[in-house]
Amino acid sequence: MKARARGMPVIVYRLGNQAGDRANAAWNPQDLTLLMLQGVLRSGQAPRLNWRLEFTPVDFTSEVIVRAMAQLSLHAGKIFHLVNPQPISFDLLCDWLSVSGYTLRRVDYADWLVELRQLAEACQPIASLLRLLEELAPSGGSQYFGQLSTFDSRQLRAALPSLGLESGYPAIESSLLAVYVARLAERGLLPRARRNTSGGALLGKVAMVTGASSGIGQAVAQALARDGCQVALVARRADQLEQVRQGILAAQGVAVACPADVTSRAEVEAAVARCRSLLGQPDILVNSAGVMYYTRAFSGLTHLTDRTIDVNCRGLVHTVEAVLPIMLDRGGGHIVNLSSDAGRAPFPGLAVYTGSKFFVEGYSRALRLEVASRGLRVTCVQPGDVRTPLQACRDDADSEAHKEFSGQGKYTMLEPEDVARAILYAVQQPPHVGVNEILVESREAPI
Ligand SMILES: NC(=O)c1ccc[n+]([C@@H]2O[C@H](COP(=O)([O-])OP(=O)(O)OC[C@H]3O[C@@H](n4cnc5c(N)ncnc54)[C@H](OP(=O)(O)O)[C@@H]3O)[C@@H](O)[C@H]2O)c1
Repeated sequence: MKARARGMPVIVYRLGNQAGDRANAAWNPQDLTLLMLQGVLRSGQAPRLNWRLEFTPVDFTSEVIVRAMAQLSLHAGKIFHLVNPQPISFDLLCDWLSVSGYTLRRVDYADWLVELRQLAEACQPIASLLRLLEELAPSGGSQYFGQLSTFDSRQLRAALPSLGLESGYPAIESSLLAVYVARLAERGLLPRARRNTSGGALLGKVAMVTGASSGIGQAVAQALARDGCQVALVARRADQLEQVRQGILAAQGVAVACPADVTSRAEVEAAVARCRSLLGQPDILVNSAGVMYYTRAFSGLTHLTDRTIDVNCRGLVHTVEAVLPIMLDRGGGHIVNLSSDAGRAPFPGLAVYTGSKFFVEGYSRALRLEVASRGLRVTCVQPGDVRTPLQACRDDADSEAHKEFSGQGKYTMLEPEDVARAILYAVQQPPHVGVNEILVESREAPI
């Protein structure tokens, strides 16, 4: 500031943590973030830490400095903060590493330090990390890692377009992390990830499946993962989702649990954000969350009719509306909606359910007309009776209607895997093919 007062053209750059560049991950070997990454992956342990990581790829910082200096008349006298305005949580980073093929065990910070001390004898970066941690956080992790400085970056954000950096501040997201981990592993600075060995037609695609904790959604998630998709599993029961996820991981697939109630727009948006951070932008959305209660229109079970409309209609719209901007932005994507043969013909004992599936049909058809020219596909799958928990009669449902109208015990129902195969067929087609509707029923019970 003194130089500026004497008439010198000065720009002040205040840098936050600098990470490797976005092409090669060339990174200061003594940087804490890099050493922490090495500590986590070499120990196979993720310490419980309330840490929000902030870093900026160093090539972005150098671009800003060089370009601003080339426009001294515009920028002299300004202070630019190069501190990432969107830090990510350490938990999310560890989740991302897990879904990217690293096996990590959650441990307490103190136990992690014990493990690091053993590794330090044979590994120089771990010894450096321990020294840094003893210096920065002598009384435990929570004190040091709990602090995050925030800076006002409005001045920099306002200047980015004039610096020719319209795409804005680099986000710390899955694609950047993937480059870092791959390049650092190539140079032997990080261990290599266990690869996803399922190499089907959908390798590298990201799919989001609602209703993945049971029945058709679960079978679809498993089939997509077998075919190479990375799958975000959505439903309310986190414990069930974790079981499905473990099954997919055991089969060398990639999956992440994103618990959410689809009737809540906020929870759906949080699930999509989690999918984007951990796996990337969804290429495929399968809407399988749904409920079905046998209730005749005059049985007065209004809480069940409300629930049917909330989950089957509103819930489906919530997820479509949450992913649609992403797919439209990218000019591609496939939305698969679980309708029903009750979306094509009325079924007694299921008036509101039938209505909800007619809604799914009408909504999907109009949606298809709106987005087909923008590169998107919309498929309606219309299964007949499938042997899943949906077919059970709840205690508070209309048991007489269930007895009279349910298909249970009357013919051989479809299995969830039969529907999953039909969905796989639709999503594996080349981009110019739209499999718009699939009616798949028990051979013995056509409508
Ligand atoms: N089974 C059939 O005969 C049949 C026939 C035609 C069409 N379908 C349609 O296929 C879809 C899947 O049915 P299914 O047979 O697989 O049923 P299911 O086994 O009962 O599974 C339903 C799934 O929906 C989820 N779900 C329910 N309410 C939810 C909410 N509010 N938020 C998030 N997830 C919710 C459940 O998970 P949580 O409980 O963990 O939230 C579960 O994963 C439904 O849309 C259904 O209408 C089924």
